[in-house]
Amino acid sequence: GKVCLAYSGGLDTSTILVWLLEQGYEVVCFLADVGQEEDWDKVRNKATKLGASKMIISDLKKEFVEELCFRAIQCNAIYQSRYLLGTSLARPVIARGMMKAAKDEGCDYVSHGCTGKGNDQVRFELAFLAIDPTIKIISPWRLPEFFNRFQGREDLLTYAAEKKIPVTSTKAAPWSMDDNIAHCSYEAGILEDPKLPPPQGLWTRTDDPEKAPDTPEDITIKWEKGLPVGLKVGGKTITDSLELFIALNALGKKHGIGRIDIVEDRFIGIKSRGCYDSPAMTILRSGHLDLEGLVMDGKVRTLRDQFVTHNWSELLYNGLYFSPERQFVENSLLYSQQEVNGSTDLRLYKGGVYNRGRSSETSNLYSEEESSMDSLIDFSPVDTTGFISIQAIRLKKFGQQALDQGKG
Ligand code: ARG
Ligand code: SIN
Repeated sequence: GKVCLAYSGGLDTSTILVWLLEQGYEVVCFLADVGQEEDWDKVRNKATKLGASKMIISDLKKEFVEELCFRAIQCNAIYQSRYLLGTSLARPVIARGMMKAAKDEGCDYVSHGCTGKGNDQVRFELAFLAIDPTIKIISPWRLPEFFNRFQGREDLLTYAAEKKIPVTSTKAAPWSMDDNIAHCSYEAGILEDPKLPPPQGLWTRTDDPEKAPDTPEDITIKWEKGLPVGLKVGGKTITDSLELFIALNALGKKHGIGRIDIVEDRFIGIKSRGCYDSPAMTILRSGHLDLEGLVMDGKVRTLRDQFVTHNWSELLYNGLYFSPERQFVENSLLYSQQEVNGSTDLRLYKGGVYNRGRSSETSNLYSEEESSMDSLIDFSPVDTTGFISIQAIRLKKFGQQALDQGKG
């Protein structure tokens, strides 16, 4: 059989590569470029040297930013009120790219190095099966013949020495990272004790906010249908989606924006401590929320928060991107964004994003005249007396009952 393996060049997936070859499979390696720091030539050389018949590297940055990151921004996506979903968002794009490679290469199997305790195995495998229901999946970390043989890093290193798998000499960080253009995640290892703060030098996508510039930096983001279409900074305007995102990452990095340290619930029911830095996503989310305040109908906004934001975020976290429910929810999302056009002024300063001004040429929902405390044009204060009386009918009964029962 022929296998397409998600290969990163690290110790785990290199071991899996050699182990698959040992089992008699032909192996094609696949690596998606979703904006991570990587020595691409080194990974390519390592894969072929270890015996892969081919190493495919696909640049998926643009589709990742446009189809997933920007959709998340339109949605104000967030998991458990904290996590901006950086890893969850990358998985559908990587899985789709990998399934295309598998098809092009005539593979009947796909394989990956996700552990048996995480979210990623679920995300990848649900995506693989939704894209090609006939695909066969090899998950080594869930196969007794694999996990009994490789019980820890020691076993992997012994095998690597035996099979002449080069192990990078630079000492690996004592935690696990997943890096892409949306964020970098840090989990496991010494981070597993949730009461200990993350060590200095952990963060890769943000500089220390305490050492950030003393002068704030002001930017303007232009929006169309809830999508960022322009970034104005220092007299320069960027309109290309990927360039805009990269520029926001650089600005956010410099000002130390977007760090979180949380304990979250994985789909399979295990609690896990994770640190994440997501500069561009944090800035964009703040601007988008701010513009919605100006241009979106209040009731639609409330329903969208309850129905779309929550569900889309949870679906993405749980690996259900390729599902009818995601399509269904996303339809409402796009509908809700039709009038989200305008401009937002933001200040970046020492780890914070401050909204400082917003405007829209196409929305008239906000009226200075109407909201003014100094004007009564087209507004009758007498009507509000009735509005409050009617609203109070039920509450007066509730209050009276409490008094009668001696609870008042
Ligand atoms: N806990 C985060 C999530 O589930 C990050 C996962 C990181 N994945 C990894 N392979 N290191 O989205
Ligand atoms: C893994 O377990 O492979 C990484 C963490 C996760 O998927 O949640």
